[in-house]
Amino acid sequence: MGARRTSIHGEWSSRLAFILAATGSAVGLGNIWRFPYITGENGGGAFVFVYLVCVAAIGIPIMMSEILLGRRGRQSPINTMRTLAQEEGKNAAWQYIGWLGMAAGYLILSFYSVVAGWTLAYVFRTGTGVFEGVTADGATSLFGQFVADPEKLLGWHTIFMVMTIIVVSRGVKSGLEKAVRFLMPLLFLLLLVMVGYAMNTGQFGEALVYLFKPDFTKLSAKGMLTAMGQAFFSLSLGMGAIMIYGSYLSHLASITRTTIVIAIMDTSVALVAGLAIFPIVFANHLTPELGPGMVFKVLPIAFGHMPGGTFFGTLFFLLLVFAAWTSAISLLEPVVTWLVENRGMNRVMASAWAGLVAWVLGLISLLSLNVWAQYKVFGKAFIDLVEFLAANIMLPLGGFLVAVFCAWILPKETSLDELGLGDHFGYRLWRFLARYVAPIAVIVILLFATGIIELKSQQ
Ligand code: PFF
Repeated sequence: MGARRTSIHGEWSSRLAFILAATGSAVGLGNIWRFPYITGENGGGAFVFVYLVCVAAIGIPIMMSEILLGRRGRQSPINTMRTLAQEEGKNAAWQYIGWLGMAAGYLILSFYSVVAGWTLAYVFRTGTGVFEGVTADGATSLFGQFVADPEKLLGWHTIFMVMTIIVVSRGVKSGLEKAVRFLMPLLFLLLLVMVGYAMNTGQFGEALVYLFKPDFTKLSAKGMLTAMGQAFFSLSLGMGAIMIYGSYLSHLASITRTTIVIAIMDTSVALVAGLAIFPIVFANHLTPELGPGMVFKVLPIAFGHMPGGTFFGTLFFLLLVFAAWTSAISLLEPVVTWLVENRGMNRVMASAWAGLVAWVLGLISLLSLNVWAQYKVFGKAFIDLVEFLAANIMLPLGGFLVAVFCAWILPKETSLDELGLGDHFGYRLWRFLARYVAPIAVIVILLFATGIIELKSQQ
């Protein structure tokens, strides 16, 4: 068994600092942009139900596993996996979890930055009062015109990527804590204001039924895959982001409690975002299938009509940029630590190079929205394909491997020691979920959704 290590990249100042940073990573566009639109595309309640089950039964045990491995290895995900495997006399191929994660991170960051760019643009659009009195049709067509303009998108995508590079190049530990501590609660508060508005003016009852009354006839295998992918995406699991943050965590902090706090905060933000958006969707007779533009088509209607809407709207999009920023930072961090460890680069160079690669990849996504819109791969625009592949396939696969490594390959004493729960109910529950439930669920859902296993439908 390996001795306790320290990270060459430093340590969080406290457990709270880690919770804040990990929550900053988890809460982002995934909760406010992605959750509502994929819920709308997948029929509502039953999809939300599967998502919640996935968070509890797959997400939480895998997050604990990732933090545990990160803290044990204290290096970039690739080197952590290699070191831990070697230490136990296992195959060095386990390091490929880290490589898979690095690839997923690049892919996610590439389209994430494009969408964060939309959010940045909407700060200014809302701020200049463009949406005052806007109708549902008006907001939809404004969004359509916006994404049709590659130059505008390019500008915002570039600004956002530079913002991300700057923070990562200075080291994620400075500043992140303070910023998340104030801005994240403010974002949550603002979402609650939006829910209050939606309660008064929207079809709140209809939205409640839509989101929380499962109708399992509406759930497809692809819907289940998307729900599982969302659990991974939203909790930042399966690619090493939480692993690298775990590697800066003091060995005195409780992994279990920390994980539960993060998962509850992340899930609450998604559900509250849903409660803010769907009542407005129904009140304006829109269909829930509004696609990736949903938040940008729906919330401006509310901001255009509520008292103080310009102010609230601007603040909302600003805080959403911030939430996206703290997530994007965690997407870049694992790659940067690897470049520092293995390529001898300093942080600034490493951040600039890694950010540049993601920026270039992002250009393909960006152009697939307009100039290359007629080209489809497997029937999808490139940006949708990348999102699908990364969130629904790569993250679950990464998470599957993490769970298997942590609960099957690593000796029991190691996980017992790191989790510090004693060999009691909590530890046994974690081990059961990480050994059986999470890996089997991931594989079964992947096999169903890819059609490798088929359910014979009744006539
Ligand atoms: N969890 C982030 C969100 O919900 O917006 C996105 C994300 C960040 C995914 C970091 C994966 C990751 F490693």
